[in-house]
Amino acid sequence: MSDIILKTEGLTKHYGGVHALEDANFEIRKGEHVAIMGDNGAGKSTFVRQITAVEQRTRGKVIFDGEEVDFSGPLDAREAGIETVFQNLALADDLDVPSNLFLGRELRLFNLGPFSILNNRAMRKATEEGLKRTGVKIPNLSNSIRNMSGGQRQCVAIARTATFASKLTIMDEPTAALGVQETAQVENIIRTLKESGESLIIVSHNMRQVFDLVDRIVVFRRGRIVANLKREETDGQDVVAYITGAKTGAEYEGAA
Ligand SMILES: Nc1ncnc2c1ncn2[C@@H]1O[C@H](COP(=O)(O)OP(=O)(O)OP(=O)(O)O)[C@@H](O)[C@H]1O
Ligand SMILES: [Mg+2]
Repeated sequence: MSDIILKTEGLTKHYGGVHALEDANFEIRKGEHVAIMGDNGAGKSTFVRQITAVEQRTRGKVIFDGEEVDFSGPLDAREAGIETVFQNLALADDLDVPSNLFLGRELRLFNLGPFSILNNRAMRKATEEGLKRTGVKIPNLSNSIRNMSGGQRQCVAIARTATFASKLTIMDEPTAALGVQETAQVENIIRTLKESGESLIIVSHNMRQVFDLVDRIVVFRRGRIVANLKREETDGQDVVAYITGAKTGAEYEGAA
């Protein structure tokens, strides 16, 4: 059994003439936490969208938990065990917090095709427990997401990833819109995921956060992976040099 939970081979995405992602070879081990860094437009979110099948990739392979996969969409990826917090949040505006947490996997009292009844009480209870575990404070769970601040929405999306056990969690800039306290909460959630042995890919521009949290840093530049660095073998200056292109030549040689 391989201990690689996710691997991509030659993953490529072109938007017409824009080569947003070019030939990405990436691996992450079970339990490993990896940061993806790079300038705006480097292809980080594009990479996340190809793995989770938000879009159709141009070419390349995705191997998840030992099997080549071709997810039909993000819900399919989620069912397979990949929880994702997207940069532009995929929450349903008109639904309340529990409904968003359980979106696509609602609990039902009984299920007879169109005649099914949602188990709202169970979903609300699980939501309260999930939020409690993560330390995320949402004043009123019955409020629809529409009436929440950007930071509160982000917290709901992140609590969702921590509520369900998954094989891999992907967070695309989870704290970019958060205040100091909320950021600390999210970082605690990430530490909890580490302790429970879950794998994580986090896209972040925050050097302090990355060095606090992850085992390995992968740098994207102009659609390509240009560096694969163990945290203890690099530093902020080094990473910035790869991000800006001042330094080259630490390309991928497998999971660190
Ligand atoms: N739907 C799209 N159609 C055309 N071009 C796109 C599309 N989505 C992204 N791009 C282009 O692909 C490139 C990579 O974008 P991407 O969103 O992956 O960058 P990023 O590394 O996530 O940046 P940021 O740090 O700003 O989030 C950019 O040049 C962007 O303009
Ligand atoms: Mg992005």
